[in-house]
Amino acid sequence: MKVIAISGGGQGLGRAIAYHFASLGYAVSLSDTDAAAGREALAALKAKGATALFAHADVGKALDVKAWMARTVKELGVPDVLINNAGIMIRKDVLKLKPEEFSRVIATNLGGAFLCSQAAAKVMAKRGLGGTIINIVSTRAFMSEPNTEGYSASKGGIVALTHAMAVSLAPYRIRVNAISPGWIEVRDWQKSSKAEAPHHSQEDREQHPVGRVGIPADIAEACQFLAESAGFMTGQNITIDGGMTVKMIYAE
Ligand SMILES: NC(=O)c1ccc[n+]([C@@H]2O[C@H](COP(=O)([O-])OP(=O)(O)OC[C@H]3O[C@@H](n4cnc5c(N)ncnc54)[C@H](O)[C@@H]3O)[C@@H](O)[C@H]2O)c1
Repeated sequence: MKVIAISGGGQGLGRAIAYHFASLGYAVSLSDTDAAAGREALAALKAKGATALFAHADVGKALDVKAWMARTVKELGVPDVLINNAGIMIRKDVLKLKPEEFSRVIATNLGGAFLCSQAAAKVMAKRGLGGTIINIVSTRAFMSEPNTEGYSASKGGIVALTHAMAVSLAPYRIRVNAISPGWIEVRDWQKSSKAEAPHHSQEDREQHPVGRVGIPADIAEACQFLAESAGFMTGQNITIDGGMTVKMIYAE
């Protein structure tokens, strides 16, 4: 049975990716700082008949990551796929943003992607059968709204981490790629105490050339492509945003 490890898999995109890979027959290892979300996702996976575990682990903490990976290997096996999905955003006036707030976002998003990749790569390399790492980035790595400095910088950093690790890990047959989602609706993928039915205005939809807001399946299917079909791709980033970032905007 193939094994996938997904950080931040308790809710949102990570949970949807977990369900998708479970439906493909993968054993799923989730980590999340939100224990309620993680336990709920785990129970849902088990109810679907999946083999799964949940670790209450913070990707920004090396010891948590080490323990999560060790438990994954012990209970499920060496991961064939790692999805670096956990992420946080602080939106705050750049003139008021505290250094520790900026650092926390960098440590979680960029530091977490590094720590999990390194921990997974160690066990993948030791096993000798290769593997795939997929970093969930964001179109905000390439363009910005105001007051998102930590998030944008962390995501830009992950794009660079992707090509750096792709080159370093190539001798172990580990491919490293990134996906940059645009606006993906995840309100209906939160833990049950927080989930809401999404609603989109016509304007929300029409700002996307494809005419709709994204759904988690758009990203989960791309993860499957990178994990299972893209043998000649490494170090790359795929933008999945319904065309939002290629649409030119002229103020009328
Ligand atoms: N939803 C979008 O529109 C969108 C767009 C671009 C990129 N992304 C990226 O996709 C990823 C998932 O986003 P989402 O929208 O599903 O968010 P979400 O908040 O719904 O889910 C993120 C999950 O990560 C967990 N998490 C947060 N910090 C963590 C940590 N330190 N260690 C472990 N788990 C942690 C949270 O508890 C949560 O369960 C993020 O990296 C985000 O930047 C999302």
